[in-house]
Amino acid sequence: RHIIVFISGNGSNLQAIIDAIQSGTLECKIDLVVSNKQSAYGLTRAEKAGIPTLVFPLKPYKDAGKTRIEYDVDLANKVREYNPDLIVLAGWMLVLSKEFIEHFNDNIINLHPALPDQFDGVNAIERAYEAFKKGEITKTGVMVHKVIPEVDKGVPLMVEEVPIFESDTLESLEERIHSAEHRTTPQNTNHPLEMDPLGFSIDERDSKNEE
Ligand code: GRF
Repeated sequence: RHIIVFISGNGSNLQAIIDAIQSGTLECKIDLVVSNKQSAYGLTRAEKAGIPTLVFPLKPYKDAGKTRIEYDVDLANKVREYNPDLIVLAGWMLVLSKEFIEHFNDNIINLHPALPDQFDGVNAIERAYEAFKKGEITKTGVMVHKVIPEVDKGVPLMVEEVPIFESDTLESLEERIHSAEHRTTPQNTNHPLEMDPLGFSIDERDSKNEE
């Protein structure tokens, strides 16, 4: 199984996938890591692991008055050369268009640090923490979901609940959520499309953090 991982930042979930491959618990090969940000630390992680990288920023497209579709089509053409079995969005902060998704026969999965139908978009963990403080929720979670053109219609492949405690700070909650992600992301990178969907609707990914 050949995969491509898309990142925008730290890349700790990319690292979890790399570690799982290196320890033999995940059988696949990362052929390419794509980042829309040159500054993403995940690029350094990829280079250390000997994985080719592609930096593909949106800003030059915006500056040239080009559309998001043009960006996505060019990105799809570059990624297509690698003929991936699966694209994993691990902290990728741009919403991909229908054109891009259909190009890869929907073989794209995304990681989101919240339960289905809760806290979509940016700062999901912070908003869950605030909701807990107001007594609105008692738990949050993480999910991996299939990415389809209709943003809210995809189905989760994995949902894991994460408890929130009275003693939690935002930092301790973030740490618990990231641990859950690092545990579950490699598992779902293995055979995600063979798993039974759970029937929830998905959260919309962050469309605001574009660079
Ligand atoms: C993760 O919390 C993921 O759920 C969210 O962005 C974060 C990425 O973290 N979409 P990292 O870059 O993998 O460290």
